[in-house]
Amino acid sequence: MTDSHRIHACSSPIQSLASRMVDLLNKIDSPSVAFSGGRTPRDLFSLLAAEYREQVPWSRIKIFQVDERGVPPTHEDSNWRQIQERLLDKISGINAFRMEAENGEAGAEAYAKILDRELPKNESGVPLIDLVLLGMGPDGHTASLFPGTQALEVTDRSVVYNEVPQLDTYRLTLTYPVLQAAGNRWFLLKGKDKAEMFQQVLDGNYPAGKLTDTEWFIDKELASGLHRQE
Ligand code: 6PG
Repeated sequence: MTDSHRIHACSSPIQSLASRMVDLLNKIDSPSVAFSGGRTPRDLFSLLAAEYREQVPWSRIKIFQVDERGVPPTHEDSNWRQIQERLLDKISGINAFRMEAENGEAGAEAYAKILDRELPKNESGVPLIDLVLLGMGPDGHTASLFPGTQALEVTDRSVVYNEVPQLDTYRLTLTYPVLQAAGNRWFLLKGKDKAEMFQQVLDGNYPAGKLTDTEWFIDKELASGLHRQE
Protein backbone atom coordinates (compact mmCIF):
# COMPACT_ATOMS: atom_id res chain seq x y z
CA MET A 1 0.00 0.00 0.00
CA THR A 2 1.25 3.49 -0.77
CA ASP A 3 -0.61 6.71 -0.14
CA SER A 4 -1.78 7.00 -3.74
CA HIS A 5 -2.08 3.33 -4.74
CA ARG A 6 -4.36 0.85 -2.98
CA ILE A 7 -3.52 -2.74 -3.83
CA HIS A 8 -5.97 -5.63 -3.58
CA ALA A 9 -4.21 -8.97 -4.01
CA CYS A 10 -7.04 -11.40 -4.69
CA SER A 11 -7.45 -15.03 -5.65
CA SER A 12 -9.75 -13.69 -8.38
CA PRO A 13 -9.10 -9.99 -9.07
CA ILE A 14 -11.81 -10.01 -11.74
CA GLN A 15 -14.43 -11.27 -9.30
CA SER A 16 -13.29 -8.76 -6.66
CA LEU A 17 -13.36 -5.88 -9.11
CA ALA A 18 -16.75 -6.90 -10.52
CA SER A 19 -18.25 -7.05 -7.04
CA ARG A 20 -16.86 -3.61 -6.10
CA MET A 21 -18.04 -2.26 -9.45
CA VAL A 22 -21.61 -3.45 -8.90
CA ASP A 23 -21.65 -1.80 -5.46
CA LEU A 24 -20.28 1.45 -6.87
CA LEU A 25 -22.59 1.65 -9.88
CA ASN A 26 -25.66 1.04 -7.75
CA LYS A 27 -24.80 4.01 -5.57
CA ILE A 28 -24.73 6.48 -8.48
CA ASP A 29 -27.86 7.78 -10.22
CA SER A 30 -26.40 8.01 -13.73
CA PRO A 31 -23.09 6.13 -13.57
CA SER A 32 -20.43 6.31 -16.25
CA VAL A 33 -17.72 3.72 -16.85
CA ALA A 34 -14.85 3.73 -19.33
CA PHE A 35 -13.37 0.38 -20.35
CA SER A 36 -9.84 -0.29 -21.49
CA GLY A 37 -9.03 -2.94 -24.05
CA GLY A 38 -6.43 -5.68 -24.15
CA ARG A 39 -6.84 -9.25 -22.96
CA THR A 40 -7.30 -8.79 -19.23
CA PRO A 41 -10.76 -7.19 -19.12
CA ARG A 42 -12.35 -9.74 -21.50
CA ASP A 43 -13.35 -12.08 -18.70
CA LEU A 44 -14.65 -9.13 -16.70
CA PHE A 45 -17.02 -8.20 -19.52
CA SER A 46 -18.25 -11.78 -19.71
CA LEU A 47 -18.71 -11.94 -15.93
CA LEU A 48 -20.72 -8.71 -15.87
CA ALA A 49 -22.98 -10.06 -18.59
CA ALA A 50 -23.50 -13.37 -16.83
CA GLU A 51 -23.10 -13.77 -13.06
CA TYR A 52 -23.63 -10.07 -12.31
CA ARG A 53 -26.17 -9.44 -15.08
CA GLU A 54 -29.11 -8.84 -12.76
CA GLN A 55 -27.12 -6.75 -10.27
CA VAL A 56 -25.86 -4.06 -12.62
CA PRO A 57 -28.21 -1.09 -13.32
CA TRP A 58 -27.60 -1.37 -17.09
CA SER A 59 -30.39 1.03 -18.08
CA ARG A 60 -28.78 3.86 -16.10
CA ILE A 61 -25.17 3.35 -17.16
CA LYS A 62 -23.19 5.14 -19.85
CA ILE A 63 -20.26 3.09 -21.16
CA PHE A 64 -17.27 4.74 -22.81
CA GLN A 65 -13.89 3.57 -24.08
CA VAL A 66 -10.54 4.45 -22.52
CA ASP A 67 -8.75 3.87 -25.79
CA GLU A 68 -9.01 2.20 -29.17
CA ARG A 69 -6.65 0.81 -31.73
CA GLY A 70 -6.48 2.39 -35.20
CA VAL A 71 -8.65 -0.33 -36.74
CA PRO A 72 -12.35 -0.74 -37.69
CA PRO A 73 -14.69 -2.07 -34.99
CA THR A 74 -14.90 -5.43 -36.77
CA HIS A 75 -11.13 -5.98 -36.65
CA GLU A 76 -9.84 -8.71 -34.33
CA ASP A 77 -7.67 -6.13 -32.53
CA SER A 78 -10.58 -3.77 -31.88
CA ASN A 79 -11.23 -3.00 -28.22
CA TRP A 80 -14.80 -2.11 -29.11
CA ARG A 81 -15.34 -5.52 -30.72
CA GLN A 82 -14.64 -7.33 -27.44
CA ILE A 83 -16.92 -5.00 -25.49
CA GLN A 84 -19.56 -5.56 -28.17
CA GLU A 85 -19.25 -9.37 -28.29
CA ARG A 86 -18.92 -9.98 -24.56
CA LEU A 87 -21.27 -7.37 -23.18
CA LEU A 88 -23.35 -5.29 -25.58
CA ASP A 89 -24.51 -8.27 -27.63
CA LYS A 90 -25.58 -10.04 -24.44
CA ILE A 91 -27.53 -7.21 -22.83
CA SER A 92 -29.76 -5.02 -24.99
CA GLY A 93 -30.29 -1.33 -24.50
CA ILE A 94 -26.95 -0.39 -22.95
CA ASN A 95 -25.97 3.22 -23.65
CA ALA A 96 -22.42 2.76 -25.01
CA PHE A 97 -20.26 5.18 -27.00
CA ARG A 98 -17.67 3.86 -29.47
CA MET A 99 -14.37 5.57 -30.27
CA GLU A 100 -14.22 5.85 -34.06
CA ALA A 101 -10.50 5.25 -34.17
CA GLU A 102 -10.65 4.41 -37.86
CA ASN A 103 -11.25 8.12 -38.44
CA GLY A 104 -8.00 9.18 -36.79
CA GLU A 105 -7.84 12.81 -35.62
CA ALA A 106 -11.48 13.38 -36.61
CA GLY A 107 -12.43 10.38 -34.48
CA ALA A 108 -10.62 11.86 -31.49
CA GLU A 109 -12.36 15.21 -31.93
CA ALA A 110 -15.74 13.50 -32.33
CA TYR A 111 -15.24 11.48 -29.15
CA ALA A 112 -14.21 14.55 -27.18
CA LYS A 113 -17.50 16.12 -28.24
CA ILE A 114 -19.40 13.03 -27.08
CA LEU A 115 -17.74 13.17 -23.65
CA ASP A 116 -18.53 16.86 -23.46
CA ARG A 117 -22.18 16.22 -24.32
CA GLU A 118 -22.75 13.15 -22.18
CA LEU A 119 -20.86 13.86 -18.96
CA PRO A 120 -20.74 16.48 -16.22
CA LYS A 121 -17.53 18.49 -16.10
CA ASN A 122 -15.29 19.82 -13.39
CA GLU A 123 -14.41 23.48 -12.91
CA SER A 124 -11.69 23.14 -15.56
CA GLY A 125 -14.15 21.73 -18.10
CA VAL A 126 -12.76 18.19 -17.88
CA PRO A 127 -15.44 15.50 -18.41
CA LEU A 128 -16.04 13.47 -15.24
CA ILE A 129 -16.24 9.69 -15.59
CA ASP A 130 -17.24 7.84 -12.43
CA LEU A 131 -15.03 4.80 -13.04
CA VAL A 132 -12.18 4.20 -15.47
CA LEU A 133 -10.99 0.62 -15.76
CA LEU A 134 -7.34 0.44 -16.74
CA GLY A 135 -4.68 -2.09 -17.54
CA MET A 136 -0.90 -1.89 -17.69
CA GLY A 137 1.23 -3.03 -20.57
CA PRO A 138 4.67 -4.67 -20.18
CA ASP A 139 6.24 -1.31 -21.05
CA GLY A 140 4.32 0.48 -18.31
CA HIS A 141 1.75 2.09 -20.60
CA THR A 142 -1.86 2.48 -19.61
CA ALA A 143 -4.77 3.44 -21.82
CA SER A 144 -2.83 4.22 -25.00
CA LEU A 145 -0.43 6.47 -23.14
CA PHE A 146 2.75 4.78 -24.29
CA PRO A 147 6.25 5.77 -23.15
CA GLY A 148 7.74 8.52 -25.29
CA THR A 149 4.52 9.39 -27.14
CA GLN A 150 2.93 12.81 -27.61
CA ALA A 151 -0.27 12.00 -25.73
CA LEU A 152 1.66 11.96 -22.45
CA GLU A 153 2.11 15.72 -22.70
CA VAL A 154 -1.48 16.67 -23.57
CA THR A 155 -3.23 18.67 -20.86
CA ASP A 156 -5.79 20.68 -22.87
CA ARG A 157 -7.78 17.92 -24.60
CA SER A 158 -9.75 14.92 -23.33
CA VAL A 159 -9.13 12.59 -26.29
CA VAL A 160 -6.18 12.47 -28.66
CA TYR A 161 -4.96 10.61 -31.72
CA ASN A 162 -1.64 9.22 -30.55
CA GLU A 163 1.10 7.97 -32.87
CA VAL A 164 2.77 4.93 -31.31
CA PRO A 165 6.01 4.44 -33.29
CA GLN A 166 7.14 1.46 -31.21
CA LEU A 167 4.07 -0.41 -32.45
CA ASP A 168 4.10 1.26 -35.89
CA THR A 169 0.50 2.29 -35.37
CA TYR A 170 -1.74 4.94 -33.85
CA ARG A 171 -4.34 4.83 -31.13
CA LEU A 172 -7.13 7.02 -29.80
CA THR A 173 -6.84 7.54 -26.06
CA LEU A 174 -8.25 9.44 -23.15
CA THR A 175 -5.64 11.79 -21.75
CA TYR A 176 -4.25 12.20 -18.24
CA PRO A 177 -6.61 15.06 -17.27
CA VAL A 178 -9.67 12.87 -17.91
CA LEU A 179 -8.22 9.78 -16.25
CA GLN A 180 -7.08 11.71 -13.20
CA ALA A 181 -10.36 13.62 -12.87
CA ALA A 182 -12.39 10.36 -12.85
CA GLY A 183 -14.11 9.40 -9.64
CA ASN A 184 -12.25 6.08 -9.52
CA ARG A 185 -9.20 4.64 -11.28
CA TRP A 186 -9.14 0.87 -11.04
CA PHE A 187 -6.41 -1.23 -12.61
CA LEU A 188 -6.84 -4.91 -13.35
CA LEU A 189 -3.53 -6.73 -13.55
CA LYS A 190 -2.56 -10.41 -13.62
CA GLY A 191 0.55 -12.49 -14.00
CA LYS A 192 3.99 -12.60 -12.40
CA ASP A 193 5.56 -11.39 -15.66
CA LYS A 194 4.23 -7.89 -14.91
CA ALA A 195 5.56 -7.78 -11.33
CA GLU A 196 8.80 -5.95 -12.14
CA MET A 197 7.07 -3.25 -14.14
CA PHE A 198 4.30 -2.99 -11.56
CA GLN A 199 6.95 -2.32 -8.90
CA GLN A 200 8.38 0.45 -11.08
CA VAL A 201 4.90 1.90 -11.59
CA LEU A 202 4.23 1.86 -7.85
CA ASP A 203 7.37 3.96 -7.51
CA GLY A 204 5.80 6.52 -9.86
CA ASN A 205 7.62 5.56 -13.01
CA TYR A 206 6.30 5.00 -16.54
CA PRO A 207 2.96 6.27 -17.83
CA ALA A 208 0.82 4.03 -15.59
CA GLY A 209 2.69 5.36 -12.56
CA LYS A 210 1.77 8.98 -13.27
CA LEU A 211 -1.84 8.51 -12.14
CA THR A 212 -2.48 8.91 -8.43
CA ASP A 213 -5.22 7.79 -6.08
CA THR A 214 -5.51 4.45 -7.89
CA GLU A 215 -6.68 1.00 -6.90
CA TRP A 216 -5.03 -2.15 -8.24
CA PHE A 217 -6.79 -5.50 -8.40
CA ILE A 218 -4.01 -8.03 -8.82
CA ASP A 219 -3.71 -11.79 -8.56
CA LYS A 220 -1.64 -13.61 -5.94
CA GLU A 221 0.90 -14.65 -8.58
CA LEU A 222 1.65 -11.03 -9.35
CA ALA A 223 1.64 -10.06 -5.68
CA SER A 224 4.22 -12.77 -4.95
CA GLY A 225 6.52 -11.19 -7.49
CA LEU A 226 6.64 -7.81 -5.78
CA HIS A 227 9.91 -6.95 -3.98
CA ARG A 228 8.06 -5.49 -1.03
CA GLN A 229 4.57 -6.15 0.23
CA GLU A 230 2.71 -2.85 0.03
C1 6PG B 1 -5.14 -1.70 -25.12
C2 6PG B 1 -5.43 -1.33 -23.69
C3 6PG B 1 -4.13 -1.26 -22.95
C4 6PG B 1 -4.12 -2.45 -22.04
C5 6PG B 1 -2.73 -2.89 -21.73
C6 6PG B 1 -2.74 -4.24 -21.01
O1 6PG B 1 -5.78 -1.14 -26.01
O2 6PG B 1 -4.31 -2.61 -25.30
O3 6PG B 1 -6.26 -0.36 -23.45
O4 6PG B 1 -3.87 -0.12 -22.22
O5 6PG B 1 -4.83 -2.16 -20.85
O6 6PG B 1 -2.02 -3.01 -22.95
O7 6PG B 1 -3.25 -5.17 -21.91
P1 6PG B 1 -3.46 -6.72 -21.48
O8 6PG B 1 -4.68 -6.73 -20.60
O9 6PG B 1 -3.70 -7.43 -22.79
O10 6PG B 1 -2.22 -7.14 -20.76
